[in-house]
Amino acid sequence: MTTKTTMKISDRACTTAMSNCPPAPSAAGLPEGRTALKTAGISVIIAYFPAFLFPLILPYGAAVRLVVFGASGMVGQGAVRACLRDEGVSEVLLVVRRPLHVQHAKVREIVHTDFTDYTGLSSELTGLDGCLFCLGMPSAGCPEEEYIRVTHDYTLAAARALTAASPAGAFVYISGHGADSTERSRFLGARVKGSTENALLALPGSTYVFRPAYIQPEDGAVSRTPLYRRLYRVTSGLYPLLQRIAPRYVTTTGQLGRAMIAAVRLRPAGPAVLHTREINQLAAASPSPGVR
Ligand SMILES: NC(=O)c1ccc[n+]([C@@H]2O[C@H](COP(=O)([O-])OP(=O)(O)OC[C@H]3O[C@@H](n4cnc5c(N)ncnc54)[C@H](OP(=O)(O)O)[C@@H]3O)[C@@H](O)[C@H]2O)c1
Repeated sequence: MTTKTTMKISDRACTTAMSNCPPAPSAAGLPEGRTALKTAGISVIIAYFPAFLFPLILPYGAAVRLVVFGASGMVGQGAVRACLRDEGVSEVLLVVRRPLHVQHAKVREIVHTDFTDYTGLSSELTGLDGCLFCLGMPSAGCPEEEYIRVTHDYTLAAARALTAASPAGAFVYISGHGADSTERSRFLGARVKGSTENALLALPGSTYVFRPAYIQPEDGAVSRTPLYRRLYRVTSGLYPLLQRIAPRYVTTTGQLGRAMIAAVRLRPAGPAVLHTREINQLAAASPSPGVR
C-alpha cells in the first residue's frame, strides 16, 4: 500500500527528522555573479576531476529531479540535505516506510510498504534524473534470508522500477568497502553487497556503486542502527586523526550526498564502482552554483 504525502512547506523550515537541515538557498540569496560562480564551478571540475572520469554531462545548469530511498538513515539524511542545499536539484521524492515530515518546498514524501513492488509508483518515478539509494541494514545478527531480501531484493526492485519508468535516470547505490564482487566471501555482508552490485551493473542504464569505508556523520545526521550510534560516539572524536592518517578511507555524509548528486549530473564514464577517494573527488567536482 502506498500513501502519498505532498508537503506544502516553506523553504525556511526543515522539521523533525531533518531538524538540522539548513534552509534551501532562496533565489534572492543567489549572488548576482551567477555566471562567475558557474565558471568557478567548472574550474573546480577541471582542477579536481580525473580526466578518465570525464563523461556525458547533463546539460550544464539543468535542474535535476531525484528520488531518495533510505532518507531516514544516516547516509540518507546526508543525501537529502545535499539535495536541499543544491540549487540545481529542483525536486526530491522520498520513498519511506514511515512519514518523516520533512518540511521543504522541494520535498515530497511517499509512504510505501512493499519495497519489492513499485508498480503503483510508476507515474511518480517517471521523468526522474536519478535515484540515490541509501536504504540498507547491517548484516551482523541478521538472518541471512532477511538480509538478502533487504539488501539485494529491495535494491534490485527499486533499480528495475527506475529503469522502467525513467530509462535515462542514473541509479546510485550505497554499497560498502569490502563488498566482494566474486560473491564468495565468507562474510554475509560482503557477499550479498557484491552480488547486489553485480546484479545492478548488469541492468541497462547508468549505475554507480559507491563503496565508502568510514563515514563521518555531519550536520546532526544520526544512524538508525543503535550499535553504530554508540560506535560513532567514540569514532567521531577520532575523525580529525583518521582524516590525517587514512584520507583514502574517510568521507562524510555531506561529501557522500554531494557525490551522489554529482554522479547523476556528470555521469562519469570511468569505473562504475567508486571507492572513497573517487567519491570525495566527485563531491569536490559538484558543479552546481547553488551548493553552499
Ligand atoms: N554507516 C556507515 O558507516 C556505512 C559505511 C559504509 C556503507 N554503509 C551503507 O550505507 C547504507 C546506509 O547506511 P546508514 O548508515 O545510513 O544506515 P541506517 O542509518 O541504519 O539507515 C538505514 C536506512 O534503511 C532503511 N531501512 C532499513 N531496513 C529497512 C526495511 N526493511 N525496509 C525499509 N527500509 C529499511 C531505514 O529506514 P527506517 O528509518 O524506516 O528504519 C533507513 O532509512 C547501508 O547499506 C550501509 O551498509 C554505511
